Amino acid sequence: MTRIFRFASALPLFALTLSACSGSEQADQPAKPQQMTLNEVMRNEVDLRADAVWEIGNAAIDDQAGLDPAKMTDAKWNELARHATSLQQGAIHLATLDPIIVVRNGEKIADEGVPYGDSAVDVQAGIDRNPQGLRDMANGLASHMAELAMAARAHDGVKAGALISQIDGVCEDCHLSYWYPSQKELVDQFRDPRPETSNH
Ligand code: HEC
Repeated sequence: MTRIFRFASALPLFALTLSACSGSEQADQPAKPQQMTLNEVMRNEVDLRADAVWEIGNAAIDDQAGLDPAKMTDAKWNELARHATSLQQGAIHLATLDPIIVVRNGEKIADEGVPYGDSAVDVQAGIDRNPQGLRDMANGLASHMAELAMAARAHDGVKAGALISQIDGVCEDCHLSYWYPSQKELVDQFRDPRPETSNH
């Protein structure tokens, strides 16, 4: 079966308990709306929207890792374009956070409690060393999604399938640099350089 999505299994198991987000914006400071944290943008605007894109892709993937036009109705193409654009906007939001604050007041990020997990404090320090690098990668995700929206509008299954299968790598590149850089070497060993050969 051809598979295109989600992170390689060796990576941290994402805590999927998106604990019912406890009102991120406080209404009592009208003069200065609190900007979202990176963690909030990541969970609510990047991860969820990527899931919506993957869901459509997974349902229509063919043997060549393209989207099978027979499985794509006009409505689905439109939906794909809409989710791609919405993920693009999430990525732009990420790229324009200024300053970039990972979490508020001691909140924890996924996997920071496990032995190999990087903490929010570590992640913040890495971003503070090179915030522009993170913004560049976020803009990279945004352009990728703009291309996907275009391919979806053109009903181009080959291109859309290829772009969807590459999303994972785009997420992972930034995660390896900014979320769990300590695992870079380990993860590189698990990375399959030629995914096409791994049919089973
Ligand atoms: C430009 C950098 C960047 C890109 C691109 C990126 N991420 Fe992230 N992501 C981060 C950082 C930094 C963290 C660690 C901080 C955190 O967990 O909030 C993170 C954490 C996460 C988390 C854990 C959130 C939590 O609860 O702690 C998930 C899930 C996630 N990313 C999903 C994705 C997906 C899916 C994509 C691609 C569609 C993606 N990310 C693309 C930087 C990025």
